[in-house]
Amino acid sequence: MTELKDQIDTSRLPCHIAIIMDGNGRWARERGSHRIFGHQSGITAVRETVEGAGELGVKYLTLYAFSKENWCRPQEEIEALMSLMVSTINSETETLIKNNVRLLVIGDMHNLPDYITAKLAEVTAITRNNSGLTLIIALSYGARWEIADAAKRIAEDVVSGKIDKSKINETMFSEYLLTRFVPDPELLIRTSGEYRISNFLLWQIAYTELFFSDTLWPDFRKNHLYEAIIDYQKRERRFGKTSEQINL
Ligand code: FPP
Repeated sequence: MTELKDQIDTSRLPCHIAIIMDGNGRWARERGSHRIFGHQSGITAVRETVEGAGELGVKYLTLYAFSKENWCRPQEEIEALMSLMVSTINSETETLIKNNVRLLVIGDMHNLPDYITAKLAEVTAITRNNSGLTLIIALSYGARWEIADAAKRIAEDVVSGKIDKSKINETMFSEYLLTRFVPDPELLIRTSGEYRISNFLLWQIAYTELFFSDTLWPDFRKNHLYEAIIDYQKRERRFGKTSEQINL
C-alpha cells in the first residue's frame, strides 16, 4: 500500500498550516490521569508535527499553545503549562537549530511571566536567521484582542498624522497584525472532534481550508498531518469565484 506521505503532491503544499491542539485534558482523563499529564504527552505530538511539516517543506506552522482565555484555567494548570513550555523550548533548542527552524511567538506578551518572555526572546534571537520551517507559537493569544489592538494602533497613527485615514484598507490592516510577516494559513487543523475556531487567527483564516480531526492532540502523529494535507489537496479553492473560472 502507498504510504500516506507519498500521496502528498509536494509541489502543492500549503505554505502555512495552523493547528488548534485540542483534547489533552480528555486524553488524560481517559487514562485516569491528571490533565497536566495530557499536556505533557502533547509534546510528542508537537515534536512529530514540527518534524513532519519541516520534512515536507511546509514554510510556516502556527501552533495555538495558550489562548488569552486559557488564563482563566486553574492556577496549577497554568503554571504547569508555562513550565512545560519553557522546558520544551529548552530541551528542543538544539534540534530547532539543527533542523534550520526559526521560532516566532505571537500573543500578548504582557501577561507572561518574565522567565518565559526571556527564554522566548533568547530562542527567537538564536534562530532568527534560520531559513527552513518557521514555527510560530501562539501564546497568550486571542484574535479579537489582536484585531482590536491593531485598530487602536491604526487610530493612533491617524491621530499623529503618520498615516491618512483614506489609506486604511485590508492590506494595510494586515500590516498592523502580529502575523504581518507571515502569509495567511491555507490549512487550519483542529483536533479532538470539536468544531470551533476558539478566537484563533480570525482575520487570517478568511479563506483558509478547515480540517477537523477526531484524534486527541497527544495521539496526533505525522500520518494525521499527512491526512489533513491530502484532504486539503483534494479541495477546490475558489476564493469567491466559480468552479468554471478557476478551471479556465
Ligand atoms: C488544549 O487541550 C491544549 C492546550 C490548552 C495546551 C496545548 C499546549 C501544549 C501541547 C504545549 C505546547 C508547547 C509548545 C512548546 C508548543 P485541552 O486542555 O483544552 O483539552 P480538553 O479540551 O480535552 O480539556
